[in-house]
Amino acid sequence: AIDPEFEENRDVVEQHDGHNVWGPVDEPEELGIHGTHVAVDFDICIADGACLEDCPVDVFEWVDTPDHPESEIKADPAHEDQCIDCMLCVDVCPVDAIDVDPG
Ligand code: SF4
Ligand code: F3S
Ligand code: ZN
Repeated sequence: AIDPEFEENRDVVEQHDGHNVWGPVDEPEELGIHGTHVAVDFDICIADGACLEDCPVDVFEWVDTPDHPESEIKADPAHEDQCIDCMLCVDVCPVDAIDVDPG
């Protein structure tokens, strides 16, 4: 599961489409965590898709991650600023790849 303390335990190593990427990143095998308010651990995501289907405000978009060992697409929190903190995505992800921090 995603580390809920990732903001303490990791560093921001790059930006992707306006959101943080928390390392370590070593492409293509290691991709880190995308987003902060809505955070997706790309190294855990298996592209189940429940988060995209269930988010009422369409926070997520697929991104291609060729040659990642878990899946070759990931749910990117492209619109994390729109999140209404309903927690549905956290509940439906089968591998607990998502952390939402209303902070
Ligand atoms: Fe979407 Fe709700 Fe998840 Fe926010 S908490 S990203 S609104 S499903
Ligand atoms: Fe990935 Fe979980 Fe969504 S596996 S696609 S973050 S439901
Ligand atoms: Zn991203």
